[in-house]
Amino acid sequence: MRIAVIGTGYVGLVAGTCFAESGHDVTCVDVEQAKVAALQRGELPLYEPGLEELVRRNREAGRLRFTTHLASAVGAAAVVFIAVGTPMGESGSADLQYVLAAAEAVGRALRHYTVVVDKSTVPVGTADRVHALIARHTVHDFDVVSNPEFMKEGAALEDFLKPDRVVIGADSERARRIMGELYAPFVRTESPILFMDTRSAELTKYAANAMLATRISFMNDVAALCERVGADADHVRRGVGADKRIGHAFLHPGIGYGGSCFPKDVRALMATARDVGLELDLLRAVEATNARQKQSLLTKALRHYGDLSRHTFAVWGLAFKPRTDDMREAPSVDLIEGLLDAGARVQCHDPVAGEAARRCFADRVAYASTCYDAAEGADGLFLVTEWSEFRHPDLRRLKSLMRRPVIFDGRNVFDPEQARGEGFTYFGVGRG
Ligand code: UDX
Repeated sequence: MRIAVIGTGYVGLVAGTCFAESGHDVTCVDVEQAKVAALQRGELPLYEPGLEELVRRNREAGRLRFTTHLASAVGAAAVVFIAVGTPMGESGSADLQYVLAAAEAVGRALRHYTVVVDKSTVPVGTADRVHALIARHTVHDFDVVSNPEFMKEGAALEDFLKPDRVVIGADSERARRIMGELYAPFVRTESPILFMDTRSAELTKYAANAMLATRISFMNDVAALCERVGADADHVRRGVGADKRIGHAFLHPGIGYGGSCFPKDVRALMATARDVGLELDLLRAVEATNARQKQSLLTKALRHYGDLSRHTFAVWGLAFKPRTDDMREAPSVDLIEGLLDAGARVQCHDPVAGEAARRCFADRVAYASTCYDAAEGADGLFLVTEWSEFRHPDLRRLKSLMRRPVIFDGRNVFDPEQARGEGFTYFGVGRG
């Protein structure tokens, strides 16, 4: 099948590459000339494990190409994916300007019956708006489908190639059949395609992200309670997750969720509800807990040292989670800004987000090329993301490098007994 994908961000690039991998003929379109030129040279605008290799393989096989010429890519395609950004707009609602601009351009470019797919995360009712906009600019027959994407950064290929489920909101049998064919290589008995109407599909994406964010904030509240009553949140997490009805995923307390999806989607869902006269109080609390949690390590440090000025701190992990260089809404930003405001010096390290962090903090912090270099002369170490290379440091070496052996473990990756046994003062999340 010939496919056009509009937008070469995370979702567009991964989806386009994976469809090419399954044998389709894919053209990825972007308005940014420089980005397209880089992609044509095989240079990716983002870090995602395994993606560069997959892009290379499919470009060489002639199944994947990049262009700025939207009209020719769309005109030749049987299925067009709109995968452009939906940043946070006014009062938390999703800003649809890029989606609607893409829809209009698609409308002008159609040459025959085409399935137009909303892949971007868009509020309920967007498929109808996209449909109306395209209809104004074309005489050709078309269907608009909502096909939200559930991939996680850092595991995007695995998630796309082996999804838990594929959600397809389509109002016509013809579109359902085409989408079914397209996804056939990725679905298995235990990971079905769920067909539904477009509005339910649109809402499913927001509800899923809001549910996951809710689990995290709930466990962060439980962790705060553990600290006050002398319980260990890690034991509680295991005990709670062992209930099959609950499950273990997304119960890890930490220093708050970040990234391009959870914060934005929680707010957008609240805005959608507010538009129809409904206040989602639960999600307001989810957000408030997350904001408090992002400050939690700083609060502990202030309590421990009193004054942070003239102190030096090591920060391990800068992106919002491991295996990505994405700094959007990263808890490290709140922490580091707080440390700098308090007059502290910061030495940080992230295995892949160094460059992205430089755009964020410029020369206000020092960048170390290894986690041990970051710890040199530090009065305390903050572990912010759970990269595997941070999990089992040589504690003796670490202690000999630091001025004061204090660990603030924002992801509960260290064994408190072991750290204390090596002479560290240890603070976890919800661990006494
Ligand atoms: C998320 C959804 O998981 C994905 O389905 C959707 O398509 C996009 O949004 P992503 O933002 O890439 O994916 O990251 P994810 O792995 O879900 O983590 C989100 C945040 O929650 C991170 O900051 C992470 O550290 C935090 N988190 C996750 C926790 O604090 N505790 C957990 O138990 C799990």
